[in-house]
Amino acid sequence: MCGIVGYIGAKEAAPLLIDGLKRLEYRGYDSAGIAVFDGKDINMVKAKGKLSILDERIDKQGMPKGALGIGHTRWATHGKPSDINAHPHNDCSGDFVVVHNGIIENYKELREMLKAKGHTFNTECDTEVVAHLIEEYYDGDLAEAVKKMLAELRGSFALGIISKKEPDKIIGARKDSPLIAGIGSGENFIASDIPAILPHTRDIYILEDGEMVVLTDNKIDIMNFQGDRVEKKVFHVDWDAVSAEKGGYPHFMLKEIHEQPKALKDTMTGRIDINGVRIKLDDITITREDVSRIDKINIVACGTAYHAGIIGKYTIERLARIPVEVDIASEYRYRDPMVDKNTLVIIISQSGETADTLAALREARKRGARILAITNVVGSSVAREARDVLYTWAGPEIAVASTKAYTTQLVSLCMLALDLGIKKGTLSREEALEIMKHLKQLPAQAETILKNEEEIKRLAEKYSAWEDVFFIGRGLDYAVAMEGSLKLKEISYVHAEAYAAGELKHGTLALVVDGVPVIALATQDFLYEKMMSNIEEVKARGGIVIALVKENDKAMTNIADHIIPIPQTLSLLTPVLTVIPLQLLAYYTAAARGCDIDKPRNLAKSVTVE
Ligand code: M6R
Repeated sequence: MCGIVGYIGAKEAAPLLIDGLKRLEYRGYDSAGIAVFDGKDINMVKAKGKLSILDERIDKQGMPKGALGIGHTRWATHGKPSDINAHPHNDCSGDFVVVHNGIIENYKELREMLKAKGHTFNTECDTEVVAHLIEEYYDGDLAEAVKKMLAELRGSFALGIISKKEPDKIIGARKDSPLIAGIGSGENFIASDIPAILPHTRDIYILEDGEMVVLTDNKIDIMNFQGDRVEKKVFHVDWDAVSAEKGGYPHFMLKEIHEQPKALKDTMTGRIDINGVRIKLDDITITREDVSRIDKINIVACGTAYHAGIIGKYTIERLARIPVEVDIASEYRYRDPMVDKNTLVIIISQSGETADTLAALREARKRGARILAITNVVGSSVAREARDVLYTWAGPEIAVASTKAYTTQLVSLCMLALDLGIKKGTLSREEALEIMKHLKQLPAQAETILKNEEEIKRLAEKYSAWEDVFFIGRGLDYAVAMEGSLKLKEISYVHAEAYAAGELKHGTLALVVDGVPVIALATQDFLYEKMMSNIEEVKARGGIVIALVKENDKAMTNIADHIIPIPQTLSLLTPVLTVIPLQLLAYYTAAARGCDIDKPRNLAKSVTVE
């Protein structure tokens, strides 16, 4: 995830910016850069790769001098990781320099508009339009130009801006991406995250969406995008450096669970065109003719990504009517798969580096299949080797247990299924529109679920001594049950198994006796009654049932021991929501058992060996 730090004061800015960026390294990034005003010009140093490479470059070029500067670590979304795409970015004149976290949704139209006015672009980044817009609007007042620029932007952003026209200030602005202003004495700071400035100040202002800030060395003015002054309370940070990295959460996993509303929103940004009833997946080049030639789809992945693939099968078959097989990558590569040029192989991998997944990709490509990758890491091996790439814009996932990668993979698969269905003509305009509208509601609904966290924590603590847990569900709920069970066993070391609820009576029911916990998912409308019967079977044998049902479900209240409500949405989309309480349940069970949650025993975040 990108990081921002900015400084204005009397000290040398460059070492302070580099130190701030190092403190944000834990967030993950693929390039970095700084810009410092030396009293005459703004000098930039940027480099693809780690900060050590930026350090080497600075050693060669010399440390930029000056007491005003901004720095950035970039996690690529638009444009591959490269020296040129690294932030900061500038306008044609080099007078205005910006760093940006987030995604500018309408950057293409803005770029065209600016090109028509004579602006020249040097990078592939969405961010560059910001610098050119300010150049376009500047008329002797930087804050005014920034306000005009902000009125043009759609999407999410935290911005840091400096200009040699007005080198006595830094301007910041925020919408849907965090930004803080740090209060110093004779110096002030901006940052995307507290750790970046913690050695210098513990007193900060937290900007809200729609607010901008103008900092000089001895003043901080906060206003809304219309220019009305905003009064804010100073927030005093009393976290230590380690908690600050985790945004105050005890573990990265919990932080990442809470980042899901934003990750979902970002992943859909600019891709769902409700008015045109169209899905816009820029990096996917599959045409209507290509879709008509695809006679089957293979989805191949490992672990959590494989579980997302199972949901993808249901969604694609239902919306695009193309048969889909889902394979575990380590099996696929050795099973002599029947694949040819009419097969579309969808590879799902958060890291884009999983050895088995990569080997499966190569095997399928060798056999002539067209490869489409869904990944979270721009420039990863999977992204480089696939013909088409659909990026999840979840930001880096640090905890070994995958959470926000999974939910963003689900919405990506749904957008892909919609795109294929629209192109194939298997989906009516009305149905597509209905699904798109519900997709857009998911981030807010995910927030609603997170508000129920205390209740889930209480349940997890109550049952934390459990040793065997069963997860049951039908249809899409069964697929989510698999993911819930993986989460629990992975981080809490509790033995957990997922079963298709209809299979219980074919064997597993023998294990259900007094006090055995069963987590039952019953969110699929047309399978609800069948699930109810399965839950009755469990209750009749003394099982303890925690049921996940759509909100306002009265019937289940009389049967299950505990109810976890899921906001109303289309049955097709419930997995995105249902999994969140299961992630929390796993997290709080592991916490109650004192497990090493972010780094569970024997596991690695990216499995790059077979
Ligand atoms: O990076 P990938 O998506 O390819 O990783 C696949 C699995 O290793 C991963 O999902 C794993 O199962 C997670 N630790 C589960 O939480």
